Amino acid sequence: LICLGLEGTAEKTGIGIITDDGEVLFNKTIIYKPPLQGINPREAADHHAETFIKLLKEAFNVIDPKDIDLVSFSQGPGLGPSLRVSATAARALALSLNKPIIGVNHCVGHVEIGKLTTPAKDPLTLYVSGGNTQILAYVGDKYRVIGETHDIAIGNCLDQFARSCGLPHPGGVYIEQMAKKSEAKDENYLKLPYTIKGMDLSLSGLLTAAIKKSKELNKTDKSNETYTLEDVCYSLQETAFAMLTEITERALAHANKSEVMLVGGVAANDRLKEMLQKMCEEQNVEFYVPEKQFCGDNGAMIGWLGILQYKNGKITKMGDTKIMPNYRADMVNVNWIKHDDL
Ligand code: ATP
Ligand code: FE2
Repeated sequence: LICLGLEGTAEKTGIGIITDDGEVLFNKTIIYKPPLQGINPREAADHHAETFIKLLKEAFNVIDPKDIDLVSFSQGPGLGPSLRVSATAARALALSLNKPIIGVNHCVGHVEIGKLTTPAKDPLTLYVSGGNTQILAYVGDKYRVIGETHDIAIGNCLDQFARSCGLPHPGGVYIEQMAKKSEAKDENYLKLPYTIKGMDLSLSGLLTAAIKKSKELNKTDKSNETYTLEDVCYSLQETAFAMLTEITERALAHANKSEVMLVGGVAANDRLKEMLQKMCEEQNVEFYVPEKQFCGDNGAMIGWLGILQYKNGKITKMGDTKIMPNYRADMVNVNWIKHDDL
């Protein structure tokens, strides 16, 4: 069984082709570079419309379209205009190939590709990206959102901060580089708002405070020391990642899992991985991060979740392929996890 997965929930267009043995035959993404003001949903959608065609042409050089058995697409959550283009592309493809179509949940896709490509079996997943910040776990027959942000996602927080100080997109990458150059180590970093509540967190206060600090670079802080933009980047990372690590630790006890998996674009960050790794060692649980191509948004994860659901009897009727911008992981009927496997 071969499935072609289309991903286009936000700023990345992805096509993945994967077999029911979990062999990835094609997996490529193209990122939309937003203008200085940030993502414009309509432009992101136009980007998907162009790049789906480009990527499909490339994919069909690798595999004959006739060999595709199933078309899968991310039905939500995400930006309406982007989702609409992806759904339209998926419908057109399924109809022209005369194959079944299946709409899947993007967040669950991240978890399942992580489980396929790492040894994780039943992890607590910290999913951190430009549009999402959630802690997910399979509890009581569903993927539950055990913790989440009350406002903006961590990737968005980093990208907005970067934009405000003129760093390129995607900001997380450049903030990480700057932070590595900071000399403000350990306890010696700038105090910024640390806002967690149970297993949830809030990042907009932190973002506002960090931007304010970055505008006051030549002034001194309370300790009367001057600080650099590198120090603000470092402090922003330390504060945000400590919050993420603390809520993950709490969720771990709550969900009673023995593995932690980190997924999403922000999983590329070395410092975040280091903090989580240390916490997992202290808690005596395994820590896994999928390889980079399967961490950020990608088509293979959508194809793989399509296969899991299809093999367990689910297809989507053409009339039910409407996009679901607020599709939460806990709305998914999980029919592919067998209790004996856990
Ligand atoms: P989603 O649709 O799941 O919200 P996305 O469109 O944001 O995903 P991803 O590739 O999952 O796409 O994540 C992109 C985010 O990851 C951006 O916010 C980017 O700044 C962040 N990021 C990428 N590399 C790093 C890094 N090294 N450190 C921190 N953040 C990073
Ligand atoms: Fe994602």
